[in-house]
Amino acid sequence: MRIIRTEDYNSMSRCAAKIMAAQIVLKPDSIFGLATGSTPIGAYKQLIEWYKNGDLDFSLVKTMNLDEYCGLSGDHEQSYRYFMNHQLFNHVNIDINNTDVPNGIADDLQAECERYDGLVKSFGGLDLQLLGIGHNGHIGFNEPNTEFDKNTHVVDLKQSTIDANARFFKSIDDVPKQAITMGNKSIMSAKKILLVASGKEKRDILERALYGPITPEVPASVLQMHNDLTVVCSVE
Ligand code: GLP
Repeated sequence: MRIIRTEDYNSMSRCAAKIMAAQIVLKPDSIFGLATGSTPIGAYKQLIEWYKNGDLDFSLVKTMNLDEYCGLSGDHEQSYRYFMNHQLFNHVNIDINNTDVPNGIADDLQAECERYDGLVKSFGGLDLQLLGIGHNGHIGFNEPNTEFDKNTHVVDLKQSTIDANARFFKSIDDVPKQAITMGNKSIMSAKKILLVASGKEKRDILERALYGPITPEVPASVLQMHNDLTVVCSVE
């Protein structure tokens, strides 16, 4: 495990973006696992800037996002597809057909989960998986006490996650109660993992995830078992 502690959110974002950019330079057809949430936004902004300066080329890059709310279509402003299009994809030269986000309105959600895992498998695991961490230690939407060997699945969101995400919706009743998420097993199959965390309120959970017991009570603690984990954080 490599831990890079940075001074503030901006330097964390630049550092994470450098690692992602290096991945593209070294392997232009890299397959990224991408994350939503507020933490990665700065890194995405930086990648867009480097693309606009002519320093990065996304034309061969493929992406798969970690998760999506059930019941929201891609044009709903709070869907993760909408987030990714607006925070990154629409601003770089990625082929939108090479970007995948679980379909939260699929008729058969189970089949959608299987499609997703099939793709991850066909890639032989993603090249670089970017992750944030929830206040309760969740990664993707793998809530506390989810088995470590879960593949992509439909999850009932914990009340604490619904509360934390309510800030993005008009009212708490509008927050979806379920999501599709890549499972811990799918996440752990990535060749490299890059975890980003920022803010004092993430300090304790990050410490527990990185140094505490490896337990499903803290989903992110599974990452201690990954052989190529980089953590970039500004949590002091
Ligand atoms: C959501 C996402 C996670 C993300 C988490 C933390 O629940 N499903 O992938 O890591 O929020 O978000 P933030 O970065 O806004 O703290």
